[in-house]
Amino acid sequence: MQARTDAVHAAMDDIRQIEADLGVTREGVQAIRDRLVELSSHRDLFPLEDFPKPGPDEKTTSFMYRLAQDGDDRFALYAQSSRGQVETPVHNHTTWAVVVGFDGQEHNRFFERTDEGVNQIDDHMVQAGTGVAMLPDDLHSIHIDGPALNFHCYGLALERLDEREYYNPKEDNWKIFSSISGIREARDLQSC
Ligand SMILES: [Fe+2]
Repeated sequence: MQARTDAVHAAMDDIRQIEADLGVTREGVQAIRDRLVELSSHRDLFPLEDFPKPGPDEKTTSFMYRLAQDGDDRFALYAQSSRGQVETPVHNHTTWAVVVGFDGQEHNRFFERTDEGVNQIDDHMVQAGTGVAMLPDDLHSIHIDGPALNFHCYGLALERLDEREYYNPKEDNWKIFSSISGIREARDLQSC
């Protein structure tokens, strides 16, 4: 646990410095992604049994485990543990966002806004050793078919992201994505 805490702290120190040096830019978020890919390569620090996915009787199909978050709620890192059947609508984040694979696969689709709604412009299968990086206005959707553990990192904690938008194709309009709650604490708070 101490080794994990130290490795996560070192990564978040670097990520704070990357943002300070490069700003919230494409180059900056890609450097943050690369630093998290490096963290995720320390596979022994993140045994899957430390991040159980929801059982079949749970209403939700994934749990979020908080691994890091500053006192002002900036620089939040989570492990998302999914049992599959995770589908999100197309959404933005209003802060920078990075997803890095660890176990299983998370299909990310990227979109642009059009007069008719959204148009897919790219996609990436996030799995061990790879990741994606988004600026605050970038749009993506997530699709997870089977069990997966991925790292999600944001410039601001998920509970604070109360102005994210998602596209509702049935009504052909944009709505506010309610902020995520029920995050499970996975920090060693004694050494934070
Ligand atoms: Fe997202």
